[in-house]
Amino acid sequence: MKRKLMVTGYGGFVAGSTVWQALRDGGWDVYALSLIEVPEEREHFHCLQFDLCDAGKMKEVFQQVKPDAVVHTAALADIDYCQNNQADAERINVGVTRELAGLCADAGTKLIACSTDSVFDGKKGMYTEEDEPVPVNFYAETKAKTEEIVRDTVPNGVVTRLSLVMGLPVLGAGNSFLAKTFDAWKKGEQTKFPENEVRTPADVITVGRAFLEIAGGDFTGMLHLACSTRINRYTMACEIAERLGYSRELVVATDSNAMPGRAPRPNDASLDNAKAKRVLKTPMQTLMSGLDLVLEMKKAQEQGG
Ligand SMILES: NC(=O)c1ccc[n+]([C@@H]2O[C@H](COP(=O)([O-])OP(=O)(O)OC[C@H]3O[C@@H](n4cnc5c(N)ncnc54)[C@H](OP(=O)(O)O)[C@@H]3O)[C@@H](O)[C@H]2O)c1
Repeated sequence: MKRKLMVTGYGGFVAGSTVWQALRDGGWDVYALSLIEVPEEREHFHCLQFDLCDAGKMKEVFQQVKPDAVVHTAALADIDYCQNNQADAERINVGVTRELAGLCADAGTKLIACSTDSVFDGKKGMYTEEDEPVPVNFYAETKAKTEEIVRDTVPNGVVTRLSLVMGLPVLGAGNSFLAKTFDAWKKGEQTKFPENEVRTPADVITVGRAFLEIAGGDFTGMLHLACSTRINRYTMACEIAERLGYSRELVVATDSNAMPGRAPRPNDASLDNAKAKRVLKTPMQTLMSGLDLVLEMKKAQEQGG
């Protein structure tokens, strides 16, 4: 009998890829929770469409499905939107996680929650799981709170801090910077990337593989999911452009903290992935091997794999 995996935020970038991989993996009965209507139902895949802020509905669904593990990706992940709509960000990022954490704790279900490299202030870089969050914007504050909720209430809980995630979406564009960038480059349009932001970008395939390994394994606690390449976002985009045969001229350097009206960003929020390398079988990639994986899997998706 297959184990039951519940994934929240299915309309989004990371969840879409995770669900696709879980179905390909074959070991899971997948319950995808989504705000958007998804037409497709197939074997071992069930899509349930509702607003996760409806706590009663979430409890009812949870108790019907009785998942073995939950991957909780749903969030308001737009930093500037969160800064300007703090009540919404609190309700969705913190409130929904609190409800879900309570349900998982009561049922003994494994909860894998998504946090972010943005919980750090970016003054040090190469942060480890032992470093304390110092949020510099409201989005990061909500994520730091969700880390505490999972840590303090779910014995079987895992917090994954994701670095900037690189990949191509299965459903809508969601929060994928690469999809938006490719669209622009194909039209010959320039794209702006902040040179002040240093990251360790994780590819979305590795992130999904890590979630599935964690969901089926014994690990609990905090884990950084990041690649082994520490790079600023401008140079990252130049290297991706070059690798794919686009001109570096299409990439323009900016400073995200010098743009008026934007929420502050951490400069160097690179994550140390040594613990992930130690506790997971899923290999952590470099920027370029991660990009190769993304392109390979996109081809497989297009061929119906
Ligand atoms: N992408 C990155 O680079 C990155 C980096 C670090 C951490 N993370 C974290 O990783 C997670 C996944 O990110 P992502 O890039 O996949 O974001 P995304 O593409 O924006 O997906 C998030 C999904 O959550 C859904 N959602 C929001 N509120 C909901 C609600 N009340 N009920 C049901 N669904 C709701 C959104 O639906 P709508 O689209 O309809 O609003 C969206 O489909 C997030 O927790 C994010 O904070 C992402």
